[in-house]
Amino acid sequence: MSRKNIVLIGFMGSGKSLTARRLAQLLKRKSVSIDELIEAREGRPIKQIFAESGESYFRDKEQEVVREVAGEDGLVIDCGGGVVLNPHNITRLKANGIIIHLNVSAQWAYERVKNKGTRPLLNVEPPKERIRELLKERQPLYAQAADMTLETDGKTVEEVAKEIVFHLGHD
Ligand code: S3P
Repeated sequence: MSRKNIVLIGFMGSGKSLTARRLAQLLKRKSVSIDELIEAREGRPIKQIFAESGESYFRDKEQEVVREVAGEDGLVIDCGGGVVLNPHNITRLKANGIIIHLNVSAQWAYERVKNKGTRPLLNVEPPKERIRELLKERQPLYAQAADMTLETDGKTVEEVAKEIVFHLGHD
């Protein structure tokens, strides 16, 4: 029997990656990260892909990996924050998936990413201002793509993962 994928979308720092892993454990599913698959395929980290080949190259690779992963069943899929910029990605992910938006405020996103240095799009001064701008641009895209939105500010990964399980009716 085919089971729909569970697809996590949301801004950088919303906790998608850790939540996807925990959720997959709770539901006994496999989790996959679009960014990790891109990095493995390219043999270099996202930061280096952006620096050497540019954002549009990265978006092409992202679209390729989304197309492949969206064709599978029963996965928990952790998407990069910019996956919603390409409407084809959302159409593909929605075809066999429930899309869950992990919402985060600019303040909490900043707190969660500030010491990481792995996000090329936030490698500007001041990063807080950039977060606010990007979040404002993307908020409508996340809202439009989502079947369900959960707030993550002030919550642990465990709390968010369990909330998702609860809403999916698996508890
Ligand atoms: C991006 C988010 C990143 C990664 C890339 C671009 C974005 O993923 O895909 O740096 O455009 O928001 P996370 O949301 O997992 O940080």
